[in-house]
Amino acid sequence: MPKKTTASLNANRSSLPHKVRYALRNPGKILPYVQRSARDLKFRLVHRDHVSYYRAVMASDAARDPKAAVGSHNEKRWLALGKMQFDYLVEHGLKPEHRMLDIGCGNLRAGWRFIDYLDEGNYYGIDISPDILVAAKKVLAERGLQDKLPHLTITQDLTFDFLPEKRFDVVHAHSVFSHSPIEVIDEALAHVERILAPGGFFDFTFDRTEGAEHHVLREDFYYRTGTLIALAEKHGLQARFMDDWEKRPHGQSKIRVTAGP
Ligand SMILES: C[S@@+](CC[C@H](N)C(=O)[O-])C[C@H]1O[C@@H](n2cnc3c(N)ncnc32)[C@H](O)[C@@H]1O
Repeated sequence: MPKKTTASLNANRSSLPHKVRYALRNPGKILPYVQRSARDLKFRLVHRDHVSYYRAVMASDAARDPKAAVGSHNEKRWLALGKMQFDYLVEHGLKPEHRMLDIGCGNLRAGWRFIDYLDEGNYYGIDISPDILVAAKKVLAERGLQDKLPHLTITQDLTFDFLPEKRFDVVHAHSVFSHSPIEVIDEALAHVERILAPGGFFDFTFDRTEGAEHHVLREDFYYRTGTLIALAEKHGLQARFMDDWEKRPHGQSKIRVTAGP
């Protein structure tokens, strides 16, 4: 995962000059980009809403390789990225008796570690992709974690309407809002307070830009920190940028949201 630099934080990946410069530096990536653009066009014609669109992206990516579909192109990176998420939350006070909701749990890259650590039944993973949840169950079985009875559930939205009030000490979304338009993030922020236990928090990562907000192929979205903090505050929440996450070798940034004052 590339470290953030001034250039990367100010790049507009959707602009033509950026694309031309990138193509000249990485000629091997031109063909995959053309293929992704063709897929993007097809999926946008067939799927009118973002969740259906991204579900189709995940079906296509997971059919090739579930680990790559969640952003890790080999086993070593998959393990390292899961460990980074797990270590961070344990350092921030996650305890086995806590209840955790993992939004966009993917194929349990971090989830299997949380399931192993938390008491039985305390891990809830939700995802829009049935294909990645099938892969998640496989990982669960491979890791011998059946007795922990995690909840793994498909979702269509982020209203959390099927979950009880004040239930979760930690709500977590890693590398999910980096693939989400603002309406999806807005929906999660509008509803998360209802399910947060007293003293609980909601951590999410995002692709940060310090320049113009933009997206690439409806797959990758870049936001300014202030936009997401203001969105949380609009819903009466408190939000803060997590500086200590910046020290980790990860391309995304993290915001923590807590119930309002
Ligand atoms: C890059 S993967 C990350 C998976 C996992 N959080 C991890 O770090 O390994 C993004 C995941 O979020 C899911 N996802 C994307 N948009 C979502 C949404 N609006 N609600 C729930 N899950 C979503 C995708 O299906 C995919 O499994």
